[in-house]
Amino acid sequence: MSNTKQNKGFSDVDPMAESRKKDHIELAFKSQVDRMHLDHRFDYEPMLAGHPEDNSWPAFNFLGKTLRAPMWVSSMTGGTKMAAIINKNLARACHEFGMGMGLGSCRSLLTGDKHLDDFNVRSIIGDELPLYANLGIAQVEALIKNKETELIDKLIHKLKADGLIIHVNPLQEWLQPEGDVIQAPPVETIAQLLDMSTYPIIVKEVGQGFGPRSIAALLKMPLKAIDFAANGGTNFARLELLRSSEMHSEVYGPVVQLGHSAEEMVGWANDLHGSDSVKCQHIIISGGIKHFLDGYYLISRSKFKAIYGQASGFLKYARDDYETLRYYVNLQIKGLELCRQMLHLKEVKQ
Ligand SMILES: Cc1cc2nc3c(=O)[nH]c(=O)nc-3n(C[C@H](O)[C@H](O)[C@H](O)COP(=O)(O)O)c2cc1C
Repeated sequence: MSNTKQNKGFSDVDPMAESRKKDHIELAFKSQVDRMHLDHRFDYEPMLAGHPEDNSWPAFNFLGKTLRAPMWVSSMTGGTKMAAIINKNLARACHEFGMGMGLGSCRSLLTGDKHLDDFNVRSIIGDELPLYANLGIAQVEALIKNKETELIDKLIHKLKADGLIIHVNPLQEWLQPEGDVIQAPPVETIAQLLDMSTYPIIVKEVGQGFGPRSIAALLKMPLKAIDFAANGGTNFARLELLRSSEMHSEVYGPVVQLGHSAEEMVGWANDLHGSDSVKCQHIIISGGIKHFLDGYYLISRSKFKAIYGQASGFLKYARDDYETLRYYVNLQIKGLELCRQMLHLKEVKQ
């Protein structure tokens, strides 16, 4: 599993030498790269450190628990047989590698336990790592209106979750034929819930991100974290259009392009860092994080305590056996360890 190599000391025994040299000659022409595509986000400094040691990412506190990797499994799924397999694999990976996890929408558990097994992963992830339940803003609004918010407390209790993630997804709901209507500004609904709840709350989008005014409003609330769910990866506006009629898709297609990148959002949050009005201190940078270099870059740029989150990245490898997912996560962590040794953020000239 581990791709860690040990320094074997000097030896002239090298059984692979001949085939390796042959590969080098044959593959040299295929390995040409274009300098137009250099990654300008980092200075690469090979002179200043050796290879990273195995498991060298330092443990750190995030959301009141100790993580061993700066990664978060973004909220995904539940309610199908496949979802149970996915969630269990993901929780197992979190346990092994020290990551946090947001569950997919737990709406179906508010009123019954038919799908509890799909989401019931606390015993797999363990008590030491963050695990959050998830509800949509429309459900939270309705629960407050009907004076039924004790159902959220019960949900958190039965999942042994550390708190609640509220996803704010107006474009998805608007484009979904069976979607809910959000009646009040989400900031008001969330402020109301914060006033009446004792559990930590995280707020996220679902793949469009948040504009600068929304980021500012969220940072001023006593939230445990903001999860960006930026535009650039899985996009639920597009996903709903794929489920809709041709005309619907044609007319509303450009809606997909609305929103903000994770990089833009890091900049807006950084502008507010240190301000007396900011009460939220943790950020999960997510939405379109394709690989560990993107993740490392964005968490390094954040002035807030930050980790990076992936949904579709994990989903791709979580649907089958655990070993595939394990290999994927392990590769990312090794990559992050290498980044920490050799890469420095490029200084932006003022
Ligand atoms: C299959 C799937 C199901 C999702 N379900 C939920 C959900 O129930 N609640 C939620 O807050 N976000 C949900 N999301 C959105 C993700 O949490 C995430 O914000 C979004 O996919 C962007 O991340 P990505 O580009 O890494 O996929 C889902 C994403 C996927 C791929």
